Order: sequence, then structure tokens, then C-alpha cells
Amino acid sequence: MAGAQEKDQTMEVKTIAFEGFKPLADEACQARIVAARKKLGDRVVLLGHHYQRADVYKHADLTGDSLQLSKLACGTDSEYIVFCGVHFMAEVADILSRASQKVILPDLSAGCSMADMASLPKVERAWREIAEVLDPDEHVTPITYINSAADLKAFCGEHGGIVCTSSNARNILGWAFGRREKVLFFPDQHLGRWTGYLMDIPLSEMMVWDPDEPMGGLTPQQIKMAKVLLWKGHCSVHQMFQAQHILRWRQQHPGGAVISHPECNFEVCKLSDYVGSTDYIIKTIAASPPGSRWLVGTELNLVNRIAEEFSPQGKSVQFMAPTVCMCSTMQRIDPQHLAWALENLVDGKVVNQIKVPAYEAELARVALDRMLAIS
Ligand code: 13P
Ligand code: SF4
Repeated sequence: MAGAQEKDQTMEVKTIAFEGFKPLADEACQARIVAARKKLGDRVVLLGHHYQRADVYKHADLTGDSLQLSKLACGTDSEYIVFCGVHFMAEVADILSRASQKVILPDLSAGCSMADMASLPKVERAWREIAEVLDPDEHVTPITYINSAADLKAFCGEHGGIVCTSSNARNILGWAFGRREKVLFFPDQHLGRWTGYLMDIPLSEMMVWDPDEPMGGLTPQQIKMAKVLLWKGHCSVHQMFQAQHILRWRQQHPGGAVISHPECNFEVCKLSDYVGSTDYIIKTIAASPPGSRWLVGTELNLVNRIAEEFSPQGKSVQFMAPTVCMCSTMQRIDPQHLAWALENLVDGKVVNQIKVPAYEAELARVALDRMLAIS
């Protein structure tokens, strides 16, 4: 018996510690990533979000915006899905992929600060407080932006709600209003407000719900009047872009065009010529005539990539803010963490697996499937 135990222990695969990867130069990591991928072959697929830093993005097999990445996660059949993005994206991949597939986030601290602005206890409290004024399960559809934790997607699944992304928010809101007359939209007030505005909902009927105030800081009358309750959350990267940046640029470049992500504030979206998801931004600039000039309000890694890609066509692509604003959490997926995660897989060890508990995944999937059916 003791002999059998000893044998099991010697056979156990040890995790390769990250410590040894920390001092590696980016260049050294690149070669190790390529070598590990070669050994793993089709057993691994790398998904990369558009905001991912260039030295990681270049290793991605499949790239896209949040909606595309959700669809891609359902479509791959590799044993391992290594997600170069942030935590909520890896959770979605886990929920939508097959049970036998394993999703890996190379650095677990790659979260989304906006997603952290809404939590299940706070949303449940909001639901209870709204219930003091009207029955939310009859009158309010909860919509969670995909930038949210899996338990909030599960909440939506359970309460007749749905998930949306920046590229389908308008259709999703349309679906919601076909069922109930009000919407509780979390966690991004800006995407919610912009989408409501596009649907001709007056700003006076879109009320901000402050989760840190009793009753969201609203009176019963305001709750009754509101068509959209906007969770007081935002993306700190996109809040760096300001109306004055656009106004100043337009004076210098009257023939140029401005394009922004809908996580930007309302004024920025209103002053922009185009507003849409990361994929929409890429496609719109790609389709513009040679020589065109753009001001872009979204994360810096993506803007730099677009600028480089389209510069041979004489297109000028400029970042909207005067300061550097990157998605610092996504930035944590660096070549060192990617090399570390892949080399562990080569050794048969899964590190940093993202696994949503089954009961939560089941309900979250209901809300995600509703979204995918509409998109
Ligand atoms: P997209 O779905 O447009 O890629 O946006 C995701 C995101 O997190 C933007 O900050
Ligand atoms: Fe989250 Fe903002 Fe980063 Fe997007 S850019 S992942 S919303 S923190």
C-alpha cells in the first residue's frame, strides 16, 4: 500500500513555477511560446481580444470583439482554450465551450474594473428595492453587459434577462422592450445610455441607479417613470476621452472623421461620426478611402495596431486622448505568463483554469443563449 502511494507521488506532474519566467526578457519568451505551441499543436487554441498587447496578440489563432469571441468559444474543439483577454471573457468561453474543454487565463489578475462595479449582492439588493415600488419580474428586464461576472449573467438568466455586447446592445434592448416595459442595465451606464438614446428614449427616462445609495438614490416616482435604470458603472479607460479632445482635433482636421467605442461618455459618443464595438471600429476604418484621417476613442493597443496596419494606405489614425490609456488589466497577460501557461500544458499541467460552477454556468448560459439567438 505504502509502495503504491509512493509510486503515485512520483508520477504526479509538478506545476512549473512562474518565478522562473518573471526575469525572462520578452524576446526569450517569444521563442518559448512558439516552441510550446508547436508541441501542443491542435490541442490548444489561443483566443485574443483586440486590446491585447502586440507581443501577445501576434500569437492568437482567433481574434475578435466580445461577441465574436463568444461565438468562437462555442466553435473551437481544441482541448485547451488559452484566453488572452480578461476574466469575464474566459468565463464566457468556459460556459459556452464543451465540458471536456479547459479554459485558461494566463494571469488570473487580468480582470475588468468595470465588471467589478456590479456584484451579485448589489444587483440583488437593487432588485429587492425596485420590488418595493413595482414587481420587477413583471415589469423590468435585467440586461447585463458581457463585461460582468458569471453570477450576474446567471441572475439575468433566472429573471428573464439577457446578456448584451457593445455590438448587439440595440437589438438586445429591442428584445427586452418587447417583453417588459423597463430595463435594468448593468454595469456600464454609458453603453446603456447611448443605446437608449439611439432608440429615441428621452434622457429624462433613463435614470442612473447608484448602487451605493438606498433605492439607487431614486424616488419611487422616478423608478416608476424610468424606462431604463442605468447602473452607475463605467470603464476607466474610456472615461479618459473627452469632448474637448474631439472639438480641438476637428478644428485642426476639419475633413477628418471621429470614431468611438460606446463605453465613452455620452458627449464623446454624440460628437463622434461613428460609434461601435472594437470590430466595428476596425472594419469602418478598413473600409474608408485611402488617405482618410481618423481620431479614435478606444484602447491604445488597438489604436496603435490600426494605425500601423493602415498607414501603408496613407490613412492617418490618431489616438483621442493626450495621455496613455491602456486596459491595464488586459495588459497583465504578458509574454511571460503566456509562456508559463503553455509550458505547463506541454508538461500536462493545467494552470489558471477558469471554471464557472455548474449551477451558475447553467443559468448564465440561458442568458447568453438568448443573446446568441438574437445576434
Ligand atoms: P468589444 O466587445 O467592443 O470588443 O469591447 C469589449 C471591451 O471590454 C471594451 O472595453
Ligand atoms: Fe474592462 Fe475597460 Fe478593459 Fe474593456 S477596456 S476590459 S471595459 S477595463
